[in-house]
Amino acid sequence: MTSATTDLDSTAGSVPATYSPDAAFIASANADGALYERAASDQLGFWADQARRLQWDQPWTQVLDWSDAPVAKWFIDGKLNVAYNCVDRHVIDGHGEQVAIHWEGEPGDSRDITYSELLAEVSRAANYLTELGMRAGDRVAIYMPMVPEAIVSMLACARLGLTHSVVFAGFSPTALRQRVDDAEARLVITTDGQWRRGAAAPLKAAVDEALDGAPSSVEHVLVVRRTNIDVLWTEGRDLWWHDTVTDASPDHQAQGFDAEHPLFILYTSGTTGKPKGILHTTGGYLTQASYTHHNVFDHKAGHDVYWCTADIGWVTGHSYIVYGPLSNRATQVVYEGTPNSPDEHRHFEIIEKYGVTIYYTAPTLVRTFMKWGRQIPDAHNLSSLRLLGSVGEPINPEAWRWYRDVIGGNRTPIVDTWWQTETGAIMISPLPGVTATKPGAAMAPLPGISAKIVDDEGTELDSGRSGLLVLDQPWPSMLRGIWNDMDRFRETYWDRFAAAGWYFAGDGAKLDTDGDLWILGRVDDVMNVSGHRISTAEVESALVGHAGVAEAAVVGASDDTTGQAIVAFVILTADTAASGRLQVARNSADNTGAALIAELKAEVSREISPIARPREIHIVPELPKTRSGKIMRRLLRDVAEGRELGDTSTLVDPKVFETIARG
Ligand code: WTA
Repeated sequence: MTSATTDLDSTAGSVPATYSPDAAFIASANADGALYERAASDQLGFWADQARRLQWDQPWTQVLDWSDAPVAKWFIDGKLNVAYNCVDRHVIDGHGEQVAIHWEGEPGDSRDITYSELLAEVSRAANYLTELGMRAGDRVAIYMPMVPEAIVSMLACARLGLTHSVVFAGFSPTALRQRVDDAEARLVITTDGQWRRGAAAPLKAAVDEALDGAPSSVEHVLVVRRTNIDVLWTEGRDLWWHDTVTDASPDHQAQGFDAEHPLFILYTSGTTGKPKGILHTTGGYLTQASYTHHNVFDHKAGHDVYWCTADIGWVTGHSYIVYGPLSNRATQVVYEGTPNSPDEHRHFEIIEKYGVTIYYTAPTLVRTFMKWGRQIPDAHNLSSLRLLGSVGEPINPEAWRWYRDVIGGNRTPIVDTWWQTETGAIMISPLPGVTATKPGAAMAPLPGISAKIVDDEGTELDSGRSGLLVLDQPWPSMLRGIWNDMDRFRETYWDRFAAAGWYFAGDGAKLDTDGDLWILGRVDDVMNVSGHRISTAEVESALVGHAGVAEAAVVGASDDTTGQAIVAFVILTADTAASGRLQVARNSADNTGAALIAELKAEVSREISPIARPREIHIVPELPKTRSGKIMRRLLRDVAEGRELGDTSTLVDPKVFETIARG
């Protein structure tokens, strides 16, 4: 145990206990302390060692070229095929009969897919996509629920050098269209429908709606049958997977691609309404995804049963369901549905059924489990678990302890992993056989990674002081840009500390007096709702898209379960206000005001996704602005969280708040 740290703030918690790995775990751990020393003494040599865990068709001649910063090139002249590394080589090495995926469908159907079967499926898909005329460098949008064909599609793209853009199947047709257009996708792969809490919901219909109207770059829509729900069919454009891919040859020869060949684009929210297409490439990305999965999760091929509960629509699904685990020959669970379908026992039943040993999820789900009560996990034998992981948002110490005690039987190490869509792979995390962890702390940059905590001027801060998290050295899986917008790439991440050449992550952080790192959350206008990044600007633009709204301001207010929840303040147009709906809302004489608010919430769900639906909408007469016209979100957050108002002196009209608070 280390000595008590007395200066931790409320977000970080104040209990100083540390949890050391036990002797047996240490003895068999993939990573030991020497990894830090090796990386510190020769960083590029260290990354070359990690890259050698992969199979290269052509070796690199140089590890890093940073001369064109901030666009890095890693493993210059190296060539490799990502799908070959994730599938073929395991079959060639004699592990074809090992299960790659224990797939668990929401309605209770399940499928085990071995590495040989996965290879045949990926090869069929690659052969058919080639027959369709898709060529290396073309973009493919993948808009699918968690079915095996989604993973097969991603790997088939990787195999052919097609750049995939996975769009979360919960996103709206508008959001899909925006992403398809920005990447100029030639193909969309989707399913007829998706299972949601026992019911089949349409999905292809959303693709039809997205592609209706103005002509798009999309030539074909390839459809996997999942729910048998009725679909409309556009002859010539639409193709059934079972009529095409299924009949293609299961043999396909993979070719190597340049280490810097684009592997995928993944859109994420920034501080404006327009999502950013984060671009990742091949060799460096796979090196770091594979290295982190091996060491942070202490994964042992052929022994562990690994389960990451993310969706392939997010970066966690890319790096820790598809590329990291498969490159390491994992046997993993992939689950299609929600944790409470058909009831709250589902995840624990799955852990028992497959003997899951490594479980990686988000704090919001841990807090949901806490709310449901420990009698639910206690009804199951969870003794197979030996490691737990957390990702997506800060995990509060109380949830951390509950996770370890109740899910982990007070045995398992917990790895709290900090990273971003932009970083591609885990950056800051304990190593489970090395680090004595503190509940709520991400602890330290991984071997090979360097981070600093600085103030606005870039001065490094003493322990105990909160500041901005920066990454001061390039890393292999770093983003290579924003698709179609390299200016925005520089502005967003590199301009803030341009002189030093550091990457600005957008998160606040601090070191405690032991030198351990705590992530404090976003410092920009990006909200984190259940681990999903949503920008305030995106929700504001959806709200002002409603004819009744003149102006909107959105903040993330803290929420016990979802981390943050969306709270919106809207000013109605004069017409709407005059129509009496506002007056009625205030008086609550009937539910017309409530109806308007419900309409606005539905509008946001429709425009973006149900995950962006505001928890509360307040109709207000005015919004607090500075003299330069900037909305003071900090003050709105005070209102939303029921706090005393902070400094209002810079407002044009400090009295605005009396009306807002009363509203
Ligand atoms: C937050 C998800 C605290 C952070 C992999 C970051 C975290 C954003 C953690 C990226 C963590 C992620 N502790 N905060 N362990 N992991 N975050 O792009 O604010 O969806 O900037 O990537 O999530 O979200 P993204």
